[in-house]
Amino acid sequence: MTEQSPALDNLLTESRTFPPSEEFAAKANATEQFYTDAEGDREAFWEKQAERLHWDTRWSKVLDWSDAPFAKWFVGGKLNVAYNCVDRHVEDGHGDQVAIHWVGEPGDTRDITYAELQREVCKAANALTSLGVGANDRVAIQLPMIPEAIVSMLACARIGALHSVVFGGFSPTALRSRVDDAEAKLVITSDGQYRRGKAVPMKANVDEALAGADTVRNVVVVRRTGDDLGGDVPWTEGRDVWWHDLVDAQSDEHTPEAFDSEHPLYILYTSGTTGKPKGILHTSGGYLTQAAYTHHVVFDHKPGEDVYWCTADIGWVTGHSYIVYGPLANRATQVVYEGTPNTPHEGRHWEIVQNYKVTIYYTAPTLIRTFMKWGADIPASYDLSSLRVLGSVGEPINPEAWMWYREHIGGNRCPVVDTWWQTETGAIMISPLPGVTHAKPGSAQRPLPGISAKVVDNDGTEVPHNGGGFLVLDKPWPSMLRGIWGDDERYRETYWSRFSEQGFYFAGDGAKYDADGDIWLLGRVDDVMNVSGHRISTTEVESALVSHPTVAEAAVVGATDPTTGQGIVAFVILRGDAAEDEAGGAEAIQALRDHVAKEIGPIAKPRQIMVVPELPKTRSGKIMRRLLRDVAENREIGDVTTLADSSVMDLISKGMKSGS
Ligand code: WT7
Repeated sequence: MTEQSPALDNLLTESRTFPPSEEFAAKANATEQFYTDAEGDREAFWEKQAERLHWDTRWSKVLDWSDAPFAKWFVGGKLNVAYNCVDRHVEDGHGDQVAIHWVGEPGDTRDITYAELQREVCKAANALTSLGVGANDRVAIQLPMIPEAIVSMLACARIGALHSVVFGGFSPTALRSRVDDAEAKLVITSDGQYRRGKAVPMKANVDEALAGADTVRNVVVVRRTGDDLGGDVPWTEGRDVWWHDLVDAQSDEHTPEAFDSEHPLYILYTSGTTGKPKGILHTSGGYLTQAAYTHHVVFDHKPGEDVYWCTADIGWVTGHSYIVYGPLANRATQVVYEGTPNTPHEGRHWEIVQNYKVTIYYTAPTLIRTFMKWGADIPASYDLSSLRVLGSVGEPINPEAWMWYREHIGGNRCPVVDTWWQTETGAIMISPLPGVTHAKPGSAQRPLPGISAKVVDNDGTEVPHNGGGFLVLDKPWPSMLRGIWGDDERYRETYWSRFSEQGFYFAGDGAKYDADGDIWLLGRVDDVMNVSGHRISTTEVESALVSHPTVAEAAVVGATDPTTGQGIVAFVILRGDAAEDEAGGAEAIQALRDHVAKEIGPIAKPRQIMVVPELPKTRSGKIMRRLLRDVAENREIGDVTTLADSSVMDLISKGMKSGS
């Protein structure tokens, strides 16, 4: 395992606890009894959770694990996911309830009721059908945070097509590799998007990505930025079609078809330890069951009363499970905000909380630390008294940030839930339950009722209290991934080979039990970085760097960063000519940073690039990132005895030219 940073040491000496208030506990959706029930009969417990959905055909068996690690949940059951998220609420008399309070970055707003959402989803479903998209087809979606993004996802779900949402900040190259891997038939995008007060192009990037992509028959384009973008939107006649021309002309009625519980719902690409992103596959019944159940108990959500806001982008799994599927299945009224948190001012989020009387707020530690930097006086000048539950996700939250969040946003009144999960788990796995758990700043604490997780050593033996090791999930769960798109072997290898004897799912995270047996997450143990809660693989950035003509070799590490959790630090060996060119140093480094942004996306831009004469390697040629992390974090360099050439580290420390 990797060395611990000072922030983590700090985390492990934390001993404060915050019991729930009696008032909150009295009305909480979850109780201690849930744990007892789930332990008594796990499958019966999940069966009960599945009953919060509408099934056209009831399942005959809760779990089929006979083909492990490929699970089947609610076997034989049939349902329509979109019907569950929209239509049934209208049929139950809640058509006038606002589903989405949408807030655009420039200040435009839209309130969309469940009845309106139903009409929009039906029209979009009819539109997809008219383009020849049907069940099992793949649709790539690259859109800003606008209602059409949610409508598109639900329209796919409604007709049984799989969506593959690609974050708006990803480069044309990244989009293309995802379109190709999934063999997408259709792409949905927009003319442009607003970013920090400016309209920037989107369709032009999509066009660049799709040049020669022969699986794509049509591109549907939502008009978002219009005239603000200036100039024409590049157009391919016969392929491209405006959303408003296509969708608005459709009937707003559509009969949902019931699909098998294991019918695929979506693919979402995430970074692994190699350069090639993995298409994580999720299916319908189990996924929706766990997304809805966790949203209900972890956020204590009360339909018709709460105003919920998850600040994630729908390009990430958090947006899938906790903006689209979980909240809508639970008939939430939610805020969806298009922009960045400091546009046009640093109080934007708190202004929205105040205006819409937001009661549940779910965000990432990196943003909490940014708010801390901007100062407590900013949230203090807004009325945040509507808030009652605060959530955190994406990376370990340090106790300082947890305490600040509780005090300055939550008024020392709101429970804070630190939720651990992954793209692969589909929904929250480890988290306190508000109203039940005595919260500890910085700890995700306990697997949710119905979930089983353990911290084990190298041999797969559970470690004792106060012991540390690897986090594993030792029992299948309803929203688990059903595989990696098109690569069963990689699925087995990545998650199930590390502890194959025991049949544990290897999460890739280090963790520790405290004296009470509560779980503390300690960060990744593999070559995956976590930058502002975004997963980026070191190899992906290394491949981007070596694809530049001046780079001979590259090694990338995630170094502890006070705001973003980790920052990307790259060590590069330049090719002959470039290496000689002293004068071009700063410019060359800037060009490399831009190159990575272009290859992957701005989120992958290295914080720092150091030009070095050599890289530390073992005798078998494996780069020792541990030593580079020491350099990047300004620590004394650790054990170098396994290096092929132990003088390399001296060379690196002395010969470094650095730029950031
Ligand atoms: C990785 C998964 C789950 C949605 C966002 C990220 C880290 C996530 C926590 C947390 C400590 C966390 C882990 C995990 N992570 N939540 N509460 N405490 N670490 O999804 O991109 O699939 O990343 O994020 O390292 O493995 P993802």
